[in-house]
Amino acid sequence: MKIKNICCIGAGYVGGPTMAVIAQKCPEINVTVVDINKERIAAWNDDDVENIPIYEPGLSAVVLEARGRNLFFSTDVDEAIDKADMIFISVNTPTKTYGIGKGMAADLKFIELCARQIAKVAKNDKIVVEKSTLPVRTAEALKNILENTGNGVNYQILSNPEFLAEGTAVDDLMNPDRVLIGGDLDSPKGKEAVRSLVDIYAHWIPKERILTTNVWSSELSKLTANAFLAQRVSSINAMSELCEKTGADVNEVSKAVGMDTRIGSKFLKSSVGFGGSCFQKDILNLVYISKSFGLHQVADYWEQVIIMNDYQKKRFAYKIVQTLFNTVSGKKIAILGWAFKKDTNDTRESAAIYVADYLLNEQAEIVIYDPKVKKEQIYADLDYLNTRSSEENRTKVKVVNTPYEATKEAHAVALLTEWDEFKDLNWQMIYDKMLKPAFLFDGRRLLKRKTKEDIGFEFYAIGN
Ligand code: NAD
Ligand code: UGA
Repeated sequence: MKIKNICCIGAGYVGGPTMAVIAQKCPEINVTVVDINKERIAAWNDDDVENIPIYEPGLSAVVLEARGRNLFFSTDVDEAIDKADMIFISVNTPTKTYGIGKGMAADLKFIELCARQIAKVAKNDKIVVEKSTLPVRTAEALKNILENTGNGVNYQILSNPEFLAEGTAVDDLMNPDRVLIGGDLDSPKGKEAVRSLVDIYAHWIPKERILTTNVWSSELSKLTANAFLAQRVSSINAMSELCEKTGADVNEVSKAVGMDTRIGSKFLKSSVGFGGSCFQKDILNLVYISKSFGLHQVADYWEQVIIMNDYQKKRFAYKIVQTLFNTVSGKKIAILGWAFKKDTNDTRESAAIYVADYLLNEQAEIVIYDPKVKKEQIYADLDYLNTRSSEENRTKVKVVNTPYEATKEAHAVALLTEWDEFKDLNWQMIYDKMLKPAFLFDGRRLLKRKTKEDIGFEFYAIGN
């Protein structure tokens, strides 16, 4: 079946960029991205394409090319569902904050709402594509809802998890290592649905990189991929502490280890801890699923990745306190970088939030600079933790517009996001205006120790 109209429910970090690229590469397909968040849709439609709600290198150019031609952003969810032959569900699937599975399981209420809305509106057969990251066997629940509450139309459910990383989303979408499509390959209708999605990606992706599997393998592969990636970061972070104790250098260790082609060099960069909206949530979900099948050893194995990551964030904050003569009370600490990685304005689960929170517990005064994150977002992130009142967060934390303002008269600087611009700051000037001894804590191994020590900084970096 040739797809003419696509609807994507959810105009977030995945729905927006993914659909923009599909629309750019498939000019004959109409793609409508819908969301219940009016402000988000208005921002996607902003006359000035630089105001789209997600900062991703290269994204505004893709949107500019396709928007209004065959890419549309709308709040009219029903109309887009009605028109579409294929509906992607790309809504958020956060960790549950209530009830059974609180703090572990994925909250599927947004997914279920989408399924019920599709069932209510659809008057002809639809292919429903899971783009969100979901617990294995979610497609079964979706099918159940669609078939029992719908208008008697036929549904094919595909799983097509997204592997893009923020900050490189456009490159990842244009040139993915693989595209994964799970479907019912045992039935002619299932096969046809899979083929129609393969045909879309085949517009720009070589066929051998488009992998088709059964639905459950596809759903589980997404959780597995994120667990493996996060596990590598926790593994090298575990080694970073051992490096600090023994005089080994974690960068040298990761290079030496990564040159073994069986291990590979990517994703072995030690840091203050991984952040982002997905690693933690997806591993917790995997732990929860394993436990629900009684697989406690499997659950414990993966939970350790999160335990290690939490420890790394705490360890970094405590290192600051310890180095500053065991107290940061009333001391000004500058935080450079709030986003969970460079080249994104996303702050979800950023290590910086937790480091700041630990330091605030020790009564530090925090001043933050990030080139892309807005002040209100920073306060919202701290308020969300519920550790202290929002007034207190606003008194103890200042957000400024330049790194020089942040570091002026500070006792210490903590570099928490690896923004390129931090490499080229005028570190001599920063040093001159700081209180002495001037402490510099590099949570990303971004800066050169020698040049900073030559200036006079007391320098600490993760893993030596
Ligand atoms: P997001 O929060 O940025 O976007 C989700 C959007 O869905 C929101 O704008 C929300 O308003 C909208 N929404 C929720 N319920 C809706 C409904 N019933 N109708 C219409 N709109 C609705 O989330 P995201 O980062 O794009 O992630 C989406 C999914 O993709 C998650 O499952 C996530 O795990 C997965 N994923 C994310 C990334 C990433 O880099 N962020 C990468 C791969 C996979
Ligand atoms: C990650 C995966 O890389 C994507 O494949 C996946 O699609 C996505 O999660 C998702 O499912 O949401 P993302 O979280 O956007 O993408 O970014 P990453 O580049 O994976 O970085 C995650 C965190 O790990 C960041 O805080 C980063 O700084 C940290 N990290 C990464 C390290 O500390 N060291 C590394 O070597 C790599």
